[in-house]
Amino acid sequence: MVTARIVEYDRRQRTYFLPPHRRAVLQLHAGKNVAHMPEFLRLLAGVATDVADCFKLDGPEGVPYSAYHGLQAWLANMRKQEMENNLVDYFVPTIPGLKERLGEKHNLESGIRVHDAGCGRGIPTLILAQHFPNSTFVATDLDSEPVQWAAAESNRLGLVNTTFQVQDLVKLPADWSDSFDYVLAWDAIHDQADPEGVLREIYRTLKPKGLFSMVDMRGHTELAENLDNPAAPMLYGASLLHCMPVSLYFGGRGLGNMWGQELAVSMLQEARFTNILVLDVPNIHANLHFLCQKP
Ligand SMILES: C[S@@+](CC[C@H](N)C(=O)[O-])C[C@H]1O[C@@H](n2cnc3c(N)ncnc32)[C@H](O)[C@@H]1O
Repeated sequence: MVTARIVEYDRRQRTYFLPPHRRAVLQLHAGKNVAHMPEFLRLLAGVATDVADCFKLDGPEGVPYSAYHGLQAWLANMRKQEMENNLVDYFVPTIPGLKERLGEKHNLESGIRVHDAGCGRGIPTLILAQHFPNSTFVATDLDSEPVQWAAAESNRLGLVNTTFQVQDLVKLPADWSDSFDYVLAWDAIHDQADPEGVLREIYRTLKPKGLFSMVDMRGHTELAENLDNPAAPMLYGASLLHCMPVSLYFGGRGLGNMWGQELAVSMLQEARFTNILVLDVPNIHANLHFLCQKP
């Protein structure tokens, strides 16, 4: 840590010192907290040879989610850090009218139907469902392990307004058409095998005037426009070792997490969403929030 110029070392006293400006990246809600990244590197290192095999002419197309042991738990811990004290008080208010529609506890008239698409362990659902008991939350993921974890956690919290289910986003149930007021896809579109198909299904299942929040990585589609982004090497690395291979494994698009805001907006337009806004996510610099609407 000293030779990497992260920790200062006093040669005479043989003491170590972490200067305040470097502490910020290790603190919760510092906006640019990277304290969770070393564990992510360990997870990605575990699949490095599987990814390398994909480059062989006769190698596999990609790497299955099941090869990333511990990824869902790691993601959920990071989401807890990012979202507790942030989601309800800072993120939700960036969406006009949403907090009122989700409803306050005493206002029994309020409450809406929400879908957390590609939920993993469903941290936003667990947080929102506790704060907004008049709304109902359906959270879905292809992977049964995180869905079971989230359902058990919801029971432990005594929530009665959540449903967690294993579900492929590319073919949502036929009777979900026009049924959700709000859909949230947090970091769940770029590594889809068929992101266009998923966006079409999200559109179909939203009510007219319903809102869609796609939270995804901050980046530009054109490589040259990411050169000044200090996080870009880490993001492209994570994309190579996780986001692209999990999509390619299903013969998918392999967009990667650096698909960029320009392509993201054009795909939302293609799926017929309107009023598309590209917003910052309060206190989470790594993400962008694509807020849009079904007409
Ligand atoms: C990067 S994780 C994000 C999870 C969670 N939203 C979060 O922010 O922690 C992407 C999730 O999408 C899920 N997923 C991928 N393809 C899917 C599909 N076709 N249908 C449903 N879920 C899918 C994966 O299983 C994974 O849990």
